[in-house]
Amino acid sequence: MPAQLDHTIVHSSDRFASARFLTGLLGAPEPRAYGPFAAVPLANGVTVDYADSIVASDRIVMQHLAFLVAEDEFDEIYARITDRGLPHWGDPGHTEPQQINHRHRGRGVYVDDPDGHSLEFLTHPYVTDE
Ligand SMILES: [Fe+2]
Repeated sequence: MPAQLDHTIVHSSDRFASARFLTGLLGAPEPRAYGPFAAVPLANGVTVDYADSIVASDRIVMQHLAFLVAEDEFDEIYARITDRGLPHWGDPGHTEPQQINHRHRGRGVYVDDPDGHSLEFLTHPYVTDE
């Protein structure tokens, strides 16, 4: 294995609002203030560092972040999504509104964060040989 991803920076119009959106869905602890970032540490050691963007919020380029979760965690996350009335999709192209998918031997769902970054929650890694 050549390397492990340690952290990534996600631009946002309000770093703590975006970080709390994610931790709220995950049921994770409050984001940590770390320098100019609102940091969300994940179970595999990767940290998502939200940063207030230096460009206008309408110029933030959408990123896609996918979170592998257990089946029971998916149930909890999906309940939070529906309890909050959040638009969600079963596909990344937003053609399957208010649905989850059952692809890749698991379940998956997509939600947009406050800046339009696409958050995916899935219960099984992508299967490329199907
Ligand atoms: Fe994905």
